[in-house]
Amino acid sequence: MKKYLIAGNWKMHKNISESEELIDAIKSKFPQEDENVKLLVAPTFTNLYFVYQKIKDTGIYLGAQNCHWESSGAFTGEISPDMLKSVGCNYVIIGHSERRAMFGETNEKINKKLHALLSNSLNPIVCIGETLQQRQAGKTFDVLEDQLTNGLKGISNEQINNIVIAYEPVWAIGTGVAATIEQVDEAHNWIREKLVNLFGETAMQTIIQYGGSVNENNSAELFSLENVNGALIGGASLKADSFIKIYKNALDAE
Ligand code: PGA
Repeated sequence: MKKYLIAGNWKMHKNISESEELIDAIKSKFPQEDENVKLLVAPTFTNLYFVYQKIKDTGIYLGAQNCHWESSGAFTGEISPDMLKSVGCNYVIIGHSERRAMFGETNEKINKKLHALLSNSLNPIVCIGETLQQRQAGKTFDVLEDQLTNGLKGISNEQINNIVIAYEPVWAIGTGVAATIEQVDEAHNWIREKLVNLFGETAMQTIIQYGGSVNENNSAELFSLENVNGALIGGASLKADSFIKIYKNALDAE
């Protein structure tokens, strides 16, 4: 049975009262928990515990948008995997292109975070993807290769299915212009093959999300692709109706 993870990345949006409004709306429209199609919200750090209290018995999962790799210490402004776990997180997004571009997140740092998350029994969502310039220079698969091999260094075949890969072409994020169905298909097939080369047949089950301007109109077609297991959604995850419609499209595609 094909698996899907539909994840909403709230980025730096929503204060407490706005978060309450959004999560209440999502909750009220959430059909029911499905074994193969999971729904996840990733609010800002300050809203995590509050949102957790709202969703803890609903089957909706909680994610954070970043973490540090150390478990504690003099790292002002940072948050550890253990802290995220203690407020109810199941997943943590790492290596988002905004963090790579604006906050100096490298494959090496992502790899440290990845190992720290796994040792705290948290599921990392590792974002990869090329910029427009890299795509136009014909370097897409060199970039993905570098991000996967260095980002996933030291991961065992047994660990690979605790990790989610999110393919997010940088040029499609927040632009309203998603990659074409052919571009997504090509990239996801390539990523699947690469993961199987690195981690063996078990990687046939690894969740590979697509991200970049996913909405209620383009999601059904994306989810019909063999190697697309859901989506990492920014803008459309901030509207309960759109977010749940995308989730329902995954249920229909299952
Ligand atoms: P978008 O963002 O859906 O607004 O394009 C996706 C992301 O950044 O994860």
